[in-house]
Amino acid sequence: MIRIGIVGGTGYTGVELLRLLAQHPEAELKVITSRKEAGMPVADMYPSLRRRVNIAFTEPDTNALKQCDAVFFATPHGVAMAQARELLEAGVKVIDLAADFRLKDPEEFARWYAMPHSCTDLLQEAVYGLAEVNREAIRSARLVGLAGCYPTAVQLGLKPLLSGKPLIDENHIIADCKSGVSGAGRKAEVHTLLAEAGDNFKAYGIGGHRHLPEIRQGLQAISGRPIGLTFVPHLTPMIRGILATLYVRLLPDAQGIDFQALYEQHYANEPFIDVMPAGSSPETRSVRASNQVRIAVHRPQGGDTLVVLSAIDNLVKGASGQAVQTLNLMFGLPETTGLTHIPVLP
Ligand SMILES: NC(=O)c1ccc[n+]([C@@H]2O[C@H](COP(=O)([O-])OP(=O)(O)OC[C@H]3O[C@@H](n4cnc5c(N)ncnc54)[C@H](OP(=O)(O)O)[C@@H]3O)[C@@H](O)[C@H]2O)c1
Repeated sequence: MIRIGIVGGTGYTGVELLRLLAQHPEAELKVITSRKEAGMPVADMYPSLRRRVNIAFTEPDTNALKQCDAVFFATPHGVAMAQARELLEAGVKVIDLAADFRLKDPEEFARWYAMPHSCTDLLQEAVYGLAEVNREAIRSARLVGLAGCYPTAVQLGLKPLLSGKPLIDENHIIADCKSGVSGAGRKAEVHTLLAEAGDNFKAYGIGGHRHLPEIRQGLQAISGRPIGLTFVPHLTPMIRGILATLYVRLLPDAQGIDFQALYEQHYANEPFIDVMPAGSSPETRSVRASNQVRIAVHRPQGGDTLVVLSAIDNLVKGASGQAVQTLNLMFGLPETTGLTHIPVLP
């Protein structure tokens, strides 16, 4: 059994990790931390976990975490990089759901996250946690900076178009993305109150969102070429889900390509990616509470603009499911272990 620690067990990605790991045949939950709720049994806060998770929240104590084989950080940025070194030195594998180990350039990290990076050597060692792009590197990693939620939806939506010779105008990609409010976490904030977010729909971070440099870095790593990206996130009045609508302009040489076939072939062996039939419109509810990505490719009126739709559950494939997928790879398990849930509909 893999002994598991979770730092930040009371947040939305933390409780989602608990839900998934409580059903994982090779995982044993050992430590779940919360500074505010230390001492409280997990099931008292989350009745959904009654009779499945029998331990209590504890203070984040590095010595207790060192007894684990793997530790997830489901915390705000800045927390994992303060503790990662000590855990790695004790032989613990670390998976950070926050942004500490995503951006390879520490100056870019400091610019977007308003804090200096405290362990730049580990940043260079860290592997970017997006299995469909980095599977082999993840298998041998001891430190993973898990891909963010919007970056997962956008990169997987565009990967087939960027993996070979240029097919699209890579200087002008548009990612128009919508997320449910759980993307903002469980902490109390005015903009996620029911009376603010309910019955409302708005864009935010238009001038520059923290996921922009991560998506750009990821797309450039896939293509090996510079990428020009406009990324506009939106907040929608739903609890879970991300829908990314991606617009790209085809190059003249690519006009004759069958993009439906290209996507189907590219993802034929990916257990979590469903390329839907031509003409489909993936819905967020069709992936709810599952690690699935559903993608559809459209070429309206046969023109030179391709529209790709990519739907994920932000808390599963966008965070905790992706984290378990990564754990499976790091510990040599089948990638789908504990992740075969059917989405919840309606
Ligand atoms: N929500 C999403 O859809 C999503 C998707 C992908 C990635 N992420 C990323 O995943 C991370 C967690 O997100 P979330 O939505 O679960 O956040 P959240 O709901 O706000 O939960 C944060 C958790 O971290 C703990 N925490 C906060 N500060 C801490 C500190 N200094 N030391 C130790 N623990 C601390 C909190 O518990 P205590 O304060 O009681 O210790 C809480 O359990 C964030 O970095 C977020 O950007 C979130």
